[in-house]
Amino acid sequence: MAFLRCCDKILISGIISLMHGANKRGDTVSKEKINIGLLGLGTVGCGVCRILENNYDNIEQKTGLPLEITKVLVKDIVKDRDVELGPGVLTTDVNDIIDNPAIDIVVEVMGGTDTATCYVKKALSNGKSVVTANKDMMALYGKGLFEAAEANFADLLFEASVGGGIPIIRPLKQCLAANRIKQLIGIINGTTNYMLTKMTAEGIPFDQVLSEAQSKGYAEADPSSDIEGYDAARKLAILASIAFNSRVTLDDVYVEGITGISTTDIAYAEKLNYIVKLLGITKETPEGIEARVHPALIPTGHPLSAVKDVFNAVFVKGDAVGETMFYGQGAGEMPTASAVTADIMDAARNISKDVPGLIGCTCYKEKPVKEMGSVESKYFLRLRVLDRPGVLASITYIFGDKEVSLASVIQNQFEDNDTEAEIVMITHKVKERNLTEALEMIRHLSSVIDVCSLIRVEEDY
Ligand code: NAP
Ligand code: HSE
Repeated sequence: MAFLRCCDKILISGIISLMHGANKRGDTVSKEKINIGLLGLGTVGCGVCRILENNYDNIEQKTGLPLEITKVLVKDIVKDRDVELGPGVLTTDVNDIIDNPAIDIVVEVMGGTDTATCYVKKALSNGKSVVTANKDMMALYGKGLFEAAEANFADLLFEASVGGGIPIIRPLKQCLAANRIKQLIGIINGTTNYMLTKMTAEGIPFDQVLSEAQSKGYAEADPSSDIEGYDAARKLAILASIAFNSRVTLDDVYVEGITGISTTDIAYAEKLNYIVKLLGITKETPEGIEARVHPALIPTGHPLSAVKDVFNAVFVKGDAVGETMFYGQGAGEMPTASAVTADIMDAARNISKDVPGLIGCTCYKEKPVKEMGSVESKYFLRLRVLDRPGVLASITYIFGDKEVSLASVIQNQFEDNDTEAEIVMITHKVKERNLTEALEMIRHLSSVIDVCSLIRVEEDY
């Protein structure tokens, strides 16, 4: 409701901005400086202030104009701040920024979805360029925001929304623009990568490693967005839309987190020369775009297997460029502010040359998104079974019937239990639908105690 009420005001503010004489394409731009309005002064907002202050001269030389933070929106105006700002810069009234004719660029670093979207839409409607670090907003409302940016010849830049300080949005939109992107595979959530790294290197169980990630400030008190895969899914929706020039929404992304991953699976994976990672995977296939976030076994030689701790990386394969990988810190004050500030500089240059909005939305196609049942993958399976003759034969009979072919099988006896055994299998590539149908039948065999794990194996690179 708040979103709708706020949007009603956009028309009014658009009229106000015309009265104030907001820049339109073709106007002569003669400016002495670029005025920036920040929405938010938390972790990222403070980082942006620090970079703009520390690298002031360098930034001015690169953009051609000085950049000044003129107004900053906060919730609590009396709170102690980590950065020093001039008198009267802080405000609790958003209209001091988005309706202020002196502000050229609005930087949204407050987070959240509905209120932030409403403010950003209004700023764009007022002809201001917008820079944001907000993946939630871009994944949910990106289409409408791009339409507002295009209608008002404004820039909407969001490099920090995926991979924090890692350049990936601009490389996809510009540096790799000549390519047909074949696939993009990313480790795009630092918290889960930290957890899986610890589980692998030190054999620490999931719950303990989650508490550790929380005490280090990587995981939130409510860690569900990270460990259930939704943070990565929002980032993947953004990347897939750009990679394949077709809008992929959050609802289009298949999401599975790491809560089912155990140190037992990780140890088996290591024995088979694989490592477990939470991946965001998007590929273009004849049946449509694949967009999925789930844990996966990757070969120990895969470039992504070397990405450890909270680091992120995005592996992109283009038809001309071949393999590329973008690696770095996916979050944190200064890495994220680095990407935000570079976007501000880009927007400032475009304003000074009167070309804002030159590279807008690149989703000019409408491609179908492939449903998960049709996705083909190899699979790692761990089953607990009764240790008696014919068990493996009954399982492989069902697999054969469903066209699931096995690449390797390991049987492990338990030291303290000679009536049960553990079977670990890796399949050849098979349609997910066939595998799940086979597993449903296997689950009901009297000799099968439990299907403990099912993890996809990603070997395409
Ligand atoms: P944060 O530390 O929580 O800061 C949020 C700031 O926004 C605070 O200054 C807060 O004001 C202000 N704010 C929030 N809601 C407001 C409202 N309704 N009205 C006025 N002010 C409001 O957040 P952050 O970590 O900097 O993250 C900002 C954005 O960057 C988010 O979209 C996040 O997803 C994205 N991002 C963050 C990181 C990271 O490492 N932190 C990495 C990548 C992307 P008060 O200070 O008065 O409370
Ligand atoms: N929670 C995210 C991560 C950082 O762990 O990567 C912000 O996107």
